[in-house]
Formats: sequence, C-alpha cells, structure tokens
Amino acid sequence: MILTILCLFLPSLHATISRMHVISQPGSEFLPIDSSELLLSTMAPNRRRCAIACHNQWACRTFDYDSISQRCRLYEGDLTTGSIVTSSSASSIVMSIELSSNTCASTHNQPCEACIDSRYEQCLNNICQCPPRTYWNGSECLLQLFQNQTCTQADACRKDFNLTCLPTYINTFTYCAVTTVPVGTTVAGQVDGTAGSATDSLSTPRGLAVINNGTTLIVADAGNARVLSFNLLQKSTGSVIMTTPSGQYPSYVMAYQNSIYVGNPAGSLVQILPSNATIPLSAPYLQSCSLQYFNAPSGISMDSNGSIYVAGQGCHWITRWTGAIPSSVAGISGSYGSTSQQLYFPSGISIDQQYGFLYVADSSNHRIQRFDLDGSNIGITVAGGYGPGPAAYQLSNPLDVCVSQKNGAIYIADYGNNRVQRWDINATAGVTVAGDPAGSPGVTPTELNGPFAITLDPINEAFLYVSDFNNNRILQFPLT
Ligand SMILES: *[C@@H]1O[C@H](CO)[C@@H](O)[C@H](O)[C@H]1NC(C)=O
Ligand SMILES: *[C@@H]1O[C@H](CO)[C@@H](O)[C@H](O)[C@H]1NC(C)=O
Ligand SMILES: *[C@@H]1O[C@H](CO)[C@@H](O)[C@H](O)[C@H]1NC(C)=O
Ligand SMILES: *[C@@H]1O[C@H](CO)[C@@H](O)[C@H](O)[C@H]1NC(C)=O
Ligand SMILES: *[C@@H]1O[C@H](CO)[C@@H](O)[C@H](O)[C@H]1NC(C)=O
Ligand SMILES: *[C@@H]1O[C@H](CO)[C@@H](O)[C@H](O)[C@H]1NC(C)=O
Ligand SMILES: *[C@@H]1O[C@H](CO)[C@@H](O)[C@H](O)[C@H]1NC(C)=O
Repeated sequence: MILTILCLFLPSLHATISRMHVISQPGSEFLPIDSSELLLSTMAPNRRRCAIACHNQWACRTFDYDSISQRCRLYEGDLTTGSIVTSSSASSIVMSIELSSNTCASTHNQPCEACIDSRYEQCLNNICQCPPRTYWNGSECLLQLFQNQTCTQADACRKDFNLTCLPTYINTFTYCAVTTVPVGTTVAGQVDGTAGSATDSLSTPRGLAVINNGTTLIVADAGNARVLSFNLLQKSTGSVIMTTPSGQYPSYVMAYQNSIYVGNPAGSLVQILPSNATIPLSAPYLQSCSLQYFNAPSGISMDSNGSIYVAGQGCHWITRWTGAIPSSVAGISGSYGSTSQQLYFPSGISIDQQYGFLYVADSSNHRIQRFDLDGSNIGITVAGGYGPGPAAYQLSNPLDVCVSQKNGAIYIADYGNNRVQRWDINATAGVTVAGDPAGSPGVTPTELNGPFAITLDPINEAFLYVSDFNNNRILQFPLT
C-alpha cells in the first residue's frame, strides 16, 4: 500500500487542516458496503480540489478521484465500512482523511470553544462531541457500523438504521442487528409513572395475573397494601378485591380458573380469593424454615394435579402443597448458594405443564434454573448464570419467569436490566421483548424501570403484561 501525505493549504475558516492520505494504488476506487455512504459525486479539476471538497464536508472520510474523467466522489465511509477495489480507470485513486486519537482527544467533552474550528468534533449541548453517525470509542470518533458488521461497543452501530450491537454467544463476536423496539400500552396506573393511592393509580406494583379469558387484570398493588382488579376491555379504574395490613405487601399473584392466590411476605402465608382461605390453614407468622411455614413466599404456581408450588424466598427453597401435605421440590431450606441443588433468593416460578418442568427465577444467582417435577431436586441453568450484566447471555436480578405453554420459550423479568427477555428452548442468549436491550431504565412506552413480574395473556399468548415496579404502572406488549 502506498502512503503519501498531501498537506493542504486551505483558504478555509477551519483552523485545523485535515491531513489526507493516498490509501490505494492507481487504478483503484472505493466500494462502500452500503450505498448510503456516498455523500456526493461531483467533478473537480484536480485531486487537491477534490480533497478540499471532502475537507469541507464534516461527514466525508474517504474519497476517490479520477484525474481523466475528473470524477470526485465523497464517502462517509472508511475502510471499516467499505473496501478498495480495482477501477476500470487506471487514473483513479482512493484517499482518506487522517483520523487518529490526537484528532479529537484534545477536544472531546470540552466546552465548545475547543471545537469551534474542528474538522472532527461538533458542539452539541454545549460540549464538543462526536458528530452524528460516529461514536466515541475511548480515544477517537469512529464511524458507526452497518448491519451484520462485527462490533464490540453498545453504540457502535448505525442508530439511524435502528441497529444495535447485539451480543450473541459467550466468547464470540457481536454484530450489528436490526432491533424493532417493542412499544407498550399502559393498562393500569399512570402513563407517566406517577405513584398514587386512588384506584386509577398504583404504587410499586408487584405480582399480576390475567383471568376471565384475558379480560381481567389482577395486580398486587404492594405500596398501597391492596390487590386491585381491572377490566381490560376498557380503560378502567381498579376495584379493590383485597387489602392487607399496612406494611404487609402483597407480592406475587397466581390465577387458576377462578381462584387467585397472593403471596403475603410479611404475613408469611398465601391468601386465596375468593374464599379468603390461607395456606397453610391458620398459619401463625413465623420466620421458620420448616416445611409447614412460609418465610417470605414469593412465586406461586400450580401443576396439572392441582398441587400448589411456592417459592420460600427467605429460606431459599420451593415447596409443594398437595392438599394439606407439604413437601420440598427444589433448593435446600435455609442454605443459599450457587450449586445445582441450591438457590439464592428464589423469586417468580413457572410450571411447564407439558414437560413437567419447574422454572425458578434464582434472583441473586442471576440465572433461571429448571427442575424436573419428579423430585430429583437437581437444577440446570437454562438462562443467565454468568454474573449480573446487560449482555444478551446475562441476567441481572431476574425476579420472575413465565413459560410459554405454546412453545416452551421462557419470558424473564430481568429486573436489574430494566427489560424482559425471551429465551427460546436451548438458547444461549435472550432476545429483548420489552424495555431497552442495553438495560437503561426509563418511563417512555418503550422503556421499563424495574420490571418485577410478568404474565402471558391466556388467549393464545397474544400479549405480555409487565408490572413496571418503579414506574408504578402495568404495561401490555403485543407478542408476535
Ligand atoms: C479506538 O479505535 C482505534 C482504531 O480502531 C484504536 O486504535 C484504539 O485503540 C481504540 N481506543 C480504545 C480506547 O479502544
Ligand atoms: C445480515 O444477515 C442476515 C441474516 O443472515 C441477512 O438476512 C441480511 O440480508 C444481512 N444483511 C446485510 C446488509 O448483509
Ligand atoms: C427505525 O425505526 C423507526 C421506529 O420504528 C421507524 O420509524 C424508522 O423508519 C426506522 N428506520 C429505518 C431506517 O428502518
Ligand atoms: C375468549 O376470547 C376469544 C378471543 O377473544 C374468543 O374467541 C372466545 O370465544 C372467548 N371464550 C370465552 C369462553 O368467552
Ligand atoms: C375477603 O377479605 C376481604 C378483605 O380483605 C373482604 O372484603 C372480603 O369480603 C372477603 N371475602 C370473603 C369471600 O370472605
Ligand atoms: C400427578 O399425579 C399423577 C398420579 O398420581 C402422577 O403420576 C404425576 O406424576 C403427578 N404429576 C405431577 C406434576 O406431580
Ligand atoms: C435441547 O436441550 C435438551 C436438554 O434440555 C436436549 O435433550 C436437546 O438435544 C437439545 N436440543 C438441541 C436442538 O440442542
């Protein structure tokens, strides 16, 4: 490769003069991977004039010039988003603007006086920043990449093409992928996230369930110490169907036919509506890790025989009640840890009726464990398990899991990452179905702030419902 430097003496307002390098042999031209990289195709009497034209367009990084036809083409791309190919004209060459760490390091994040004449950085929100369609990689402004190009940083992909840097498998490269942003509808609580105690508002909602053929939403409105019912056929205010003593927050909710079960951690029991019976019957409030008691009951589920499963969060195990008979099905009571037999603050749980699997959101191990219901008590990690983090193969404090009865995929309330992930069977990474894939919290219809619990619409799983804990609202997302 020939490398020469053409120093420009420009009669321009810019104090910083771009250095230009010839980066090809004669007889070459630039081939961008995306045609949108071509900014301008014009004529110039000589190579220097073509270079000045490039210098004067902030987006231009590369140009090719043919001294016979005098064609001067300016490209936004560089060798990361295009390549040098043989030209039909022997007089065509490719040149590029010099970019190196010292072209922006002295201006980046400085007050705007620093970049007022800069070729490389722009004044945005009163500080010098990388121009649009570039990102700061720690030392310079690099071009954002196109679809399927490998990337290593979250903001490395063309945002204007709706691309994000998608981590796929552990220890493999990531690439820029199109992500469609799911938009949620607020079906309970306030759209703007305001908490309240009137029946049109919620305060730190926890568990939720959808019953009556998808027409009724039940919400554990924890901060208001009550359980509300909403009619989903019309935008409605809630009806109070249960109150708990102040400070005794209702937690997870499980609906089965016309029964509704609510975990009540402070009371250490499960209350059943509409009969108001409890499990165990007349249980005293005891923070005991023995079978007969619940210590901070969280997730609740039911198998095809009608046995009820409850995650005893405070004792790190899951117990099953068949009628009045309790037994242990997963975890070791009072012993938390990360072996295949242990759990660490188990939260939401879900049963796959078809295959006899119990899924557990093993929150402080940042993983989802799957157990056979045959009582073997050995869990296998089916999602996460690589420490807390926002990569697609990670989870961060998952608080709920919900298995699709259609295809066995699991949906996960990835609380610490402010998103809901779907992991298909045997997947090694999740796909974001609600919230920001990168994990940032927010209150717009595409964002979540601490998703606590999730449930699937009982009618063909057409919708996903999310209790958006810190936004004091319940969102409904269409599933495709
Ligand atoms: C930024 O990218 C350049 C060019 O690829 C590379 O030389 C440099 O080391 C990168 N800086 C950081 C901090 O990764
Ligand atoms: C990226 O990869 C996908 C899947 O292989 C393919 O369908 C698509 O056409 C590719 N896009 C580009 C721009 O190469
Ligand atoms: C990016 O997504 C937005 C919102 O969904 C859409 O309006 C826009 O057309 C998309 N842009 C491209 C280039 O696909
Ligand atoms: C439940 O809803 C579905 C679709 O909305 C409808 O086709 C079906 O008839 C309903 N079933 C009952 C029992 O109301
Ligand atoms: C259940 O308890 C609630 C108070 O939490 C009460 O309003 C309701 O009438 C009770 N229901 C039954 C069937 O006893
Ligand atoms: C349900 O009961 C049957 C008969 O007792 C038993 O074979 C089966 O294993 C039970 N299912 C579960 C999920 O426990
Ligand atoms: C999926 O995992 C199961 C074990 O859970 C295994 O038996 C099966 O072969 C796997 N399927 C594929 C396609 O890897």
